[in-house]
Amino acid sequence: MIALGSDHAGFPLKEEIKEYLEQKGVAFKDVGAYDTSSCDYPYQAKKACDLVVSGECEKAILCCGTGIGISIAANKIKGIRAACCTDYFSAKYTRMHNDANALCLGARVIGPGAALELVEVFLNTAFEGGRHQRRVDQITEIENL
Ligand code: RB5
Repeated sequence: MIALGSDHAGFPLKEEIKEYLEQKGVAFKDVGAYDTSSCDYPYQAKKACDLVVSGECEKAILCCGTGIGISIAANKIKGIRAACCTDYFSAKYTRMHNDANALCLGARVIGPGAALELVEVFLNTAFEGGRHQRRVDQITEIENL
């Protein structure tokens, strides 16, 4: 199960992602926004990421205008490792090396075609573990200071 969240600026891209996940048969929970009326990305990040932290969802995909605001908010939530990506390599390696559990996308930065490629690789790339596990554990350690 994938958690989907956006603010008003990310809403159109979130809708494209929803359509894509439906086509692929990937289950998701959409916490909004449900239209383009103005709303605040920090609360949207929290709503979607809470589903990941609780274990109800495996990962989150978050959209705002730049992808940055929603990623900053998501990374304040214990247990969330959010990556704002605009390129394929980063979306792949943030899974392999950082075990990122939230992908953040900027609807005003990249078009839906590129965004869906990032979603695809993010959802289908496994964490490599090994030495990377130690580093992820260090992130958790810092988070718990
Ligand atoms: C909303 O206008 C915009 O600030 C927001 O979507 C995002 O880009 C913030 O980082």
